[in-house]
Amino acid sequence: MPKKVLGVLVSGRGSNLQAIFDAISAGRLKAKIGVVISDNPQALALKRIEGFNIPTAVIEKKAYASKLQFEQAIVKELNLHHVDLVVLAGFMRILSPFVIQQFPGRIMNIHPSLLPSFPGLNPQQQALQHGVKVTGCTVHLVDEGTDSGPIILQEAVPVLDDDTPETLAGRILHVEHILYPRAVGLFCDDRITVEGRRVKIREAAEGGKL
Ligand code: GAR
Repeated sequence: MPKKVLGVLVSGRGSNLQAIFDAISAGRLKAKIGVVISDNPQALALKRIEGFNIPTAVIEKKAYASKLQFEQAIVKELNLHHVDLVVLAGFMRILSPFVIQQFPGRIMNIHPSLLPSFPGLNPQQQALQHGVKVTGCTVHLVDEGTDSGPIILQEAVPVLDDDTPETLAGRILHVEHILYPRAVGLFCDDRITVEGRRVKIREAAEGGKL
């Protein structure tokens, strides 16, 4: 099976990009990063992959007259690199239906809560404010809603009494770095099928479990 090509969209720190890159480098994830696109020229994510011969593009919203033109530029770049799967890795913009329709079932996102709880901004703070004892992270396919698409993988993380949004975010992030490469790997190995809202995961060819 040829390696699937990833187009990774980032806005900032890029630790999930790093986790995916590390999984590929270690041979745990059979994929190729075709392009990394950032909407922020200062993103640390771009620095992380410097010197590794990975194409990058900075596409800033302010350079375009409309959101549609901005998104057309993103789609053009993704297609230029023959991207199979779009991976949102801390990309802090909501994609409009125009982009979603170009890559149906082929855009993945990670969100630091157990969806459908706490979608949108500051999910760790939302979890603390609500007083939940367990939160976590979710990898899902992107649909036209906000953090609402079919769920691929989730992992729970405990909330501790003395947690701040920062300590909780750190504990969740640690799990994100394991979960996201695993979910991308399921796609790349053609193990995912979507039935309505449910994502079914086929066992690995060699009979291994997740
Ligand atoms: C991660 O915690 C990711 O789950 C979250 O932003 C952080 C990005 O970190 N994404 C969202 O909240 C999307 N709604 P990173 O840039 O170090 O990967």
